[in-house]
Amino acid sequence: MPTALIDLACPEYRLRPWDIYRRLRDDHPVYLMPDYTPDGEDVYVLSRYDDVGLALKDKARFSSQIQRDNYMNLPMLVNRDAPEHTRLRHSTNKAFNARLVRQLSGWVRGLVDELLADLYRHESVEFVDAYSTALPLRVVGGMLGVPLDRKADLRRWSQAVMNSFAVSAGLDPDTVPGFFEDVVEFSNYMEELAHERRGKPNRGDILGELVEEHENGALTRDELVTMAWSFIAAGHETTMNLLGGGIEMLLRTPELAAELRADPALTTAFIEEYLRVYSPTQWLLRRTLTEVTLHDTVIPAGALVHVVLGAANRDPRQFTDPDEIDLDRPNVNRHFAFGAGAHFCPGAALSRLLAETTFRAFYPVLDRFALDPQRPARLRTQQGSYGFAQMWLRVSPPEDR
Ligand code: HEM
Repeated sequence: MPTALIDLACPEYRLRPWDIYRRLRDDHPVYLMPDYTPDGEDVYVLSRYDDVGLALKDKARFSSQIQRDNYMNLPMLVNRDAPEHTRLRHSTNKAFNARLVRQLSGWVRGLVDELLADLYRHESVEFVDAYSTALPLRVVGGMLGVPLDRKADLRRWSQAVMNSFAVSAGLDPDTVPGFFEDVVEFSNYMEELAHERRGKPNRGDILGELVEEHENGALTRDELVTMAWSFIAAGHETTMNLLGGGIEMLLRTPELAAELRADPALTTAFIEEYLRVYSPTQWLLRRTLTEVTLHDTVIPAGALVHVVLGAANRDPRQFTDPDEIDLDRPNVNRHFAFGAGAHFCPGAALSRLLAETTFRAFYPVLDRFALDPQRPARLRTQQGSYGFAQMWLRVSPPEDR
């Protein structure tokens, strides 16, 4: 078995992994990276659609409890198994129910219009900062009851939460000074907000549902705060990658933009196809609970498994012409961009709402925006995530149209 097909630390692999994904799927469906982690653990890579689906859905054989020690091992949904996961997930499902998300559409449209109006005030604007980071943070922050005048704090706190995950995954804490203090500040602030709500009627937002769950005894105070953290962390960066990437593709592909503008109902398919081809979360980790044999390779019990959603989503065994955006694809909803099984993303409906509202609002005004050729869009090099770090746009006034 080869030893160096993937180097997760290599920026080139993070930016353009598609060719390596093909080689993994075709030639090494179970690829071993020996002694790969800082602790010298082996890592097994799964890349085919069926195998990725198995790792996501088979809870008897694949665990989400990755960490073995307790350092920064927070009780988050994403790193827990049943029965703890089932209990926490029940509270989350209440907070993200479909009724709640549907009710948000008018409010989200208002925020989108405000941000668009801000973009028009510039001749040149950095879209990731001005729009694709701002919208999800305002929406998730608003649903958690954080007032808009704390938006600068919210940004700082959400960065600190992201840094805390990076530290728990092995980043040297000295490279992100102050993150711990910011996380404590955010936790205290969320506790205050929750405290103010206690005993008052539920406004029907996420915080209201979480406080109700706390009052019923279903969630502890710490879990309530950790839950708020995880929504900020899981919700903003992923959605930001979808919004920025979608707009970049519309600006770069005028035929696609014209097709969508002529028939905005195709937006739903566009969002699913974008998510499939450029999955904002490229990979996840699991740990085997038992020995698992796949394609004649034995993965021992307790092994780390690198589950490559981005490779599964381009597997020709599942999707015809997998690298193409196809708005008529019959199995357009079969991708794993939001995961699958018990941990399927609870924020999927919310991020689809933000993307749908954004793209539909941009169609009529798209020709006021252009990618700046002097400052080409730059992809992030962060492990496991795919999306734009920076995207400068030129903005023209309405009379130039
Ligand atoms: C395009 C946007 C998004 C993408 C691509 C995405 C992707 C994912 C994926 C792949 C998982 C599964 C993780 C696993 O199985 O280990 C997940 C879980 C999760 N997502 Fe999202 N997500 C998005 C938006 C959001 C939003 C807006 C929120 C909340 C505000 C959110 C909150 C969560 C939470 C709390 C989990 C953990 C669920 C669990 O473990 O049961 N996500 N997401």
